Amino acid sequence: MKNIKKILAVIMAGVLASAILAACGGSGSAAPATEAAGAAGGVLKMVTEATFPPYESYEGGEIVGIDVDIAKAIAEELGMTLEIEDMAFDSLIAAVQSGKADIAAAGMTVTEDRLKNVNFTEPYATGIQVIIVREDSDIKSLDDLAGKKIAVQTGTTGEIYAEDIEGAEIQSFTKATDAVLEVLNGKADAMMIDNEPAKAYVAANEGLKILEEEFAVEDYAIAIAKENTELLERINNALKNLKESGKLDEIVAKYITTEE
Ligand code: ARG
Repeated sequence: MKNIKKILAVIMAGVLASAILAACGGSGSAAPATEAAGAAGGVLKMVTEATFPPYESYEGGEIVGIDVDIAKAIAEELGMTLEIEDMAFDSLIAAVQSGKADIAAAGMTVTEDRLKNVNFTEPYATGIQVIIVREDSDIKSLDDLAGKKIAVQTGTTGEIYAEDIEGAEIQSFTKATDAVLEVLNGKADAMMIDNEPAKAYVAANEGLKILEEEFAVEDYAIAIAKENTELLERINNALKNLKESGKLDEIVAKYITTEE
């Protein structure tokens, strides 16, 4: 299980290296693509996967959450109208790559692997990987997960970590909600997911708890097509303004109450 830490170190080293490369302009993709996924027509098209509260979830048929509010604020800064489409998490990167969408905002962790296919904006939040189990479970830490049934959302970093656990049987679901149910119903022993959605799901479903062990700290950022460097720059500027004006903190505070 020590592998996980090693893998993480490798991921982070890779992310750093890519960031440095990008900063030096050494990544080699200088020319704008001909059919760049532009933001023409004043519409900023966002894709997300909305079973991830408080970042994105449905409320009365509408997608709401931190990512939605941040994207709205960005669109406002850019004088554009935000349009949102919900899809499977593991389709988001392809949607951005193909130009079907301008941005993917989905509590998405910056990883070396994803950086091969898309660019990421500056990070706007931090996520921590945690483990959800039933209240009466005797699983107490990551080490107890060996050989267990672990539910995850398809394509997430939680799935990657679960794959590294010895003898674990991974049950992968398109919707995070279905993975939570699997634990609740006793069909899986644990779920690996980010801390804020974990808190939201544990609060909404009696009989679940979050283990204290936090085993990975990740950066969330918005994914944009590699060719679309102009939009990347404009969104980074908008994000900077939102950070400096306190608007970003305001959005987060609306959804997350910190009692530390
Ligand atoms: N942070 C994790 C990842 O990037 C999970 C994100 C899941 N997001 C969602 N909207 N379902 O893999």
